Amino acid sequence: MEKQIRWGILGTGRIAHDFAVGLRDVPGAVLAAVGSRTKESAQSFAGEFGAAAAYGSYEELAQAPDVDIIYIGTPHPMHAANAKLALHGGKAVLCEKPFAMNLREAEEIVALARARNLFLMEAMWTRFMPALAEVRRIIGSGEIGAVGQVHADFGISATTDPEHRVNKLELGGGALLDLGIYPLSIACALLGKVSSVQAQAIIGETGVDLSTAFTMKHEGGTLSVCSCSLRARSACELVVSGTKGSIRMHRMFHMATQLTVALQDGSSRVVDVPYLGNGYPHEAIAAGDCLRAGRIEHPLMSHEETLSLMALLDSIRGQIGLRYPAD
Ligand SMILES: NC(=O)c1ccc[n+]([C@@H]2O[C@H](COP(=O)([O-])OP(=O)(O)OC[C@H]3O[C@@H](n4cnc5c(N)ncnc54)[C@H](OP(=O)(O)O)[C@@H]3O)[C@@H](O)[C@H]2O)c1
Repeated sequence: MEKQIRWGILGTGRIAHDFAVGLRDVPGAVLAAVGSRTKESAQSFAGEFGAAAAYGSYEELAQAPDVDIIYIGTPHPMHAANAKLALHGGKAVLCEKPFAMNLREAEEIVALARARNLFLMEAMWTRFMPALAEVRRIIGSGEIGAVGQVHADFGISATTDPEHRVNKLELGGGALLDLGIYPLSIACALLGKVSSVQAQAIIGETGVDLSTAFTMKHEGGTLSVCSCSLRARSACELVVSGTKGSIRMHRMFHMATQLTVALQDGSSRVVDVPYLGNGYPHEAIAAGDCLRAGRIEHPLMSHEETLSLMALLDSIRGQIGLRYPAD
């Protein structure tokens, strides 16, 4: 029987709930403990999901026995400190996106994981979704010819509450780090390393970016065109195009369950690409596989890849004049 992976969840917000739901569909995974800033919230979360231990501080979770890996679901500016806390406690880490606020923070976390020989991964769940695997397979088959471009957008009509984390500079608010990271990450997953990026943005009253658009030139001679918004409910699709046709990842492309392949002869077909549970099981399965194999990173979301995405986010932010307290 495969070794059980004992998970700890750090933070009890929205995504932490979704991830805990996802863990139910992960074979060999158990939710061993939860850590919150308050004991009440930890206990209520542990009660809801059947975790054996509930800690009223992140420090206690980091030091907890019987936990192999900690999932970090706090707002972005806390990721670096929380990830380092967990690594210092000898735990592997799966950290929500964006991995950190900037490249400097990301490098510190990666260096610590490598020094301690502990598994570490950015929780970019799309990388492990069946949809992306199928897109890669179709591209590899040559069906759409030589790939030249990716177009991707992720726009929602978000809350305008200035106290909500997406609008608060101190909580890492803004469209780019919350949403733009998806088109950025998938464009790079499909087209590879970036040689240059150009961006423009609309900055809102609270100082965060409301809408950002960027284009990237990739080293293989391809181009991606990406946008994100907290004020425009866009199609949220990704289209990858080649000399013979295109593949469209349907609405909410980052968790697509269907693709359309359209070819130059006018034909098209729809491919079903269902995911497990609520989609989050795939990244947790990938992390568990690495832990069992004694690996400290996953090839589909490597340390180097996370660092290069952070560097791109830093350059885009430099161009649009978006600075956070962590900078
Ligand atoms: N992968 C995805 O699909 C996805 C989706 C949404 C969000 N995310 C990412 O997940 C992270 C959290 O997002 P969320 O929407 O879950 O946020 P949220 O609902 O506000 O929850 C964040 C949790 O972090 C903890 N926390 C620690 N310091 C905090 C502070 N100063 N202010 C507020 N909360 C604090 C709190 O838990 P305790 O009170 O228990 O300590 C809180 O419940 C973000 O980095 C976001 O980018 C990922």
